[in-house]
Amino acid sequence: MNTQTVKVDKGVDNDNSYQQTVDCLRNGGLVAFPTETVYGLGALATDPDATKKIFEVKGRPSDNPLIVHIGTKEEVSTYAAEIPDSALRLMDAFWPGPLTLIFNEKPGLIAENVTVGRGTVGLRMPDHPVALQLLRLLGAPLAAPSANRSGKPSPTKASHVARDLDGRIPFILDGGATGVGVESTVIDMTTTPPEILRPGGVTVEMIEAVIGPVRSESHAEEADAPRAPGMKYMHYSPDAPVWLIEPDQNQIEQAIRALTDKGLKVAVIGPDELESNKPSWYFATGAYADPSQLAAHLYDALRNCDETEADVILAVESPSEGMGAAVMNRLKKAADGKRFLV
Ligand code: TXA
Ligand code: MG
Repeated sequence: MNTQTVKVDKGVDNDNSYQQTVDCLRNGGLVAFPTETVYGLGALATDPDATKKIFEVKGRPSDNPLIVHIGTKEEVSTYAAEIPDSALRLMDAFWPGPLTLIFNEKPGLIAENVTVGRGTVGLRMPDHPVALQLLRLLGAPLAAPSANRSGKPSPTKASHVARDLDGRIPFILDGGATGVGVESTVIDMTTTPPEILRPGGVTVEMIEAVIGPVRSESHAEEADAPRAPGMKYMHYSPDAPVWLIEPDQNQIEQAIRALTDKGLKVAVIGPDELESNKPSWYFATGAYADPSQLAAHLYDALRNCDETEADVILAVESPSEGMGAAVMNRLKKAADGKRFLV
């Protein structure tokens, strides 16, 4: 299969460039498209043969449900069996935007392999002109996980999608680099209080300011059966092992020395302020005090490490408040929990 990359400009209403991708989706094909968080790999959410291809192309475990993307808030009542008042308030505050709400589903509409028979459906209205235009022209919901091979960092550029899926999908809509850079927050609205299953672009602080206290991911991680099935899998992994390290000049220098003494090449992902540490490669991710800059650059930096000869990747920890919660969640998974102690 030849993969065609179709360039679309943000905000430009050029229906022609979308038409072939809309036709492809209507015929049960897959299209990668940009959202404000990461690129998604879309298929018609109501077509089980189409959505089955998503799992095959990504190498995704079949027990991990897919998020369903919709173009209007009104569509929630089509697919959700009931809509709690708190969900309405979150939709008003944050949609379109990086927040996925889990509802009990109305049976028989969304393909069963999308919800993996859980009786719930994750809905989100993305805040990206290309995604919204695609959904408007299609007039149907799109099941779309991140458009990476399972286990790899999510794609924040069309070139990342091509690297993982070239030859496996017919179309990539190229809308440039995504803005937020980490995936949407996933919150389960079927429990009281609602529970954050995955931290993301809308922070727990922002959510609690609208609907009051919620349960957060740390509890879910301790539970035997993770509530967001995706949480149990290996994630965001470059080829070389990742170790977390404190944002401390001395520690980083010592770590680099200890590793280079063993003949290992080191790449560092860290804030602009610590760039003077002289590893073989330093990928700067913005100001330390602003984790949203790290969010925007993290997956690109992890993928850039794959383009180097690094044997080890040191990733500098970020503050854990606000967007820092989502970033540290991804970094811990990329490192499989490993911290470098000198
Ligand atoms: O920002 C995003 O959310 C991106 C863009 C493309 O929208 N999508 C994305 O999808 O990150 P994915 O498949 O990589 O992650 C979806 C997460 C998984 O952890 C999955 O387990 C959880 O959402 N999820 C989806 N539907 C669910 C459901 N019904 N119940 C519980 N968890 C669900
Ligand atoms: Mg993913």
